[in-house]
Amino acid sequence: CIGRDRTPFKQRLLVVANRLPVSAIRRGEESWSLEISAGGLVSALLGVRDVDAKWIGWAGVNVPDEVGQKALTKALATKRCIPVFLDEEIVHQYYNGYCNNILWPLFHYLGLPQEDRLATTRSFQSQFDAYKRANQMFADVVSQHYEEGDVIWCHDYHLMFLPKCLKEHDRNMKVGWFLHTPFPSSEIHRTLPSRSELLRSVLAADLVGFHTYDYARHFVSACTRILGLEGTPEGVEDQGKMTRVAAFPIGIDSDRFRRALELPTVKERICELKKRFAGRKVMLGVDRLDMIKGIPQKILAFEKFLEENPSWHDKVVLLQIAVPTRTDVPEYQKLTSQVHEIVGRINGRFGTLTGVPLLHLDRSLDFHALCALYAVTDVALVTSLRDGMNLVSYEFVACQNAKKGVLILSEFAGAAQSLGAGALLVNPWNITEVANSIFTALTMHPDEREKRHRHNFAHVTTHTAQEWAQTFVSELNDTVVEAQIRTRQ
Ligand code: G6P
Repeated sequence: CIGRDRTPFKQRLLVVANRLPVSAIRRGEESWSLEISAGGLVSALLGVRDVDAKWIGWAGVNVPDEVGQKALTKALATKRCIPVFLDEEIVHQYYNGYCNNILWPLFHYLGLPQEDRLATTRSFQSQFDAYKRANQMFADVVSQHYEEGDVIWCHDYHLMFLPKCLKEHDRNMKVGWFLHTPFPSSEIHRTLPSRSELLRSVLAADLVGFHTYDYARHFVSACTRILGLEGTPEGVEDQGKMTRVAAFPIGIDSDRFRRALELPTVKERICELKKRFAGRKVMLGVDRLDMIKGIPQKILAFEKFLEENPSWHDKVVLLQIAVPTRTDVPEYQKLTSQVHEIVGRINGRFGTLTGVPLLHLDRSLDFHALCALYAVTDVALVTSLRDGMNLVSYEFVACQNAKKGVLILSEFAGAAQSLGAGALLVNPWNITEVANSIFTALTMHPDEREKRHRHNFAHVTTHTAQEWAQTFVSELNDTVVEAQIRTRQ
């Protein structure tokens, strides 16, 4: 594609997400060190052809002084990132409060936090006001950097108010919004005091995307039942304005995992791990330490498996990597203590002088260590109580071409819709069923493992993150902004 100045034309894309894909650490008054976190979204966008993407988001740090803000803005510009500065109070009310204490549990069917339900109900309005203020701050930064012809892609539950703010600024902006979590049944969404305002704001976008068809269907039902609008196979119609709603299942950059497994350092780590766990089958869980991931349910099921299968006691180990997250939110602090207590009990019951059956780490691993671990695993356990997609299941499959291990996967993860035929699907609330699946997985015939792995591997390597981003961006490009139709008429 050639632009007017005969240089190759690239579509400018502004990606707006709560968090920038960079961690920033202050080294001095004007000095910052930045570390890129090569998460799924970053690699997805790197793979999109003819797109020139810039990121707009919160850098995850409080920078109260102008000198620090200027220096960080300059440093981030070298990584194509633009910061939104949020002060401590707004982070507390918007991010810890409305996003992570209200929307997150509700969208995952967990309801409001049990003990402080009334307190949350009381502080609801002030948190929602902070949410709207924060979204407006994101919109202001987007507007400062927007140029005619840009396409804007907003991400996730933090920014449901953003499409409306952007269209109010300029109705010709082409705006897409994608939700990375489930969108719950309309009966759940109905309980939110701000239910209508949020839906109307999302509908201001031109294209609205979800990981699965079910989430898209729930969203359309919420719009028809709560707002009384018309749902069509294309999306939602409001007085002649059409918002396209569709499913765009995300994937991973499977080549990145394949390449990593070829590296000598990763091969070395694989050898070390094999030696370390010789004589034992390795089971693996990798999750953020979040209540949606069903970590207590997973380890209780493992305990049940050990109770019922004494002959396996010294022949299996469950390695649980639990990455700390949102540590300022009390619910997450409680979960950490709860998990530690169960882990202690299980190891006390089933450990011997030579080893324990459960290795639990409260930390993240670097990419190469993770790839090596995936490669030596016999059985991966994903027991999310609800999960938008769950890419750990994809990453495990991508690293299993040699071993052809078994994936035990919660039926409540979006990934169950794509990897269901190859995985052993379980209801994580039913620990007897999960314990039985652990036995089935550990004793599965190699031919059966091979068949299941082949199915999943084909999916993971075909439906990649790049394909996901490419499809969303092209579809967004193809939507005709309502304001433009009106101008033409
Ligand atoms: C989920 C959300 C993301 C979020 C991530 C980490 O995957 O969908 O938007 O960035 O969790 O959570 P955090 O609160 O640390 O950004």
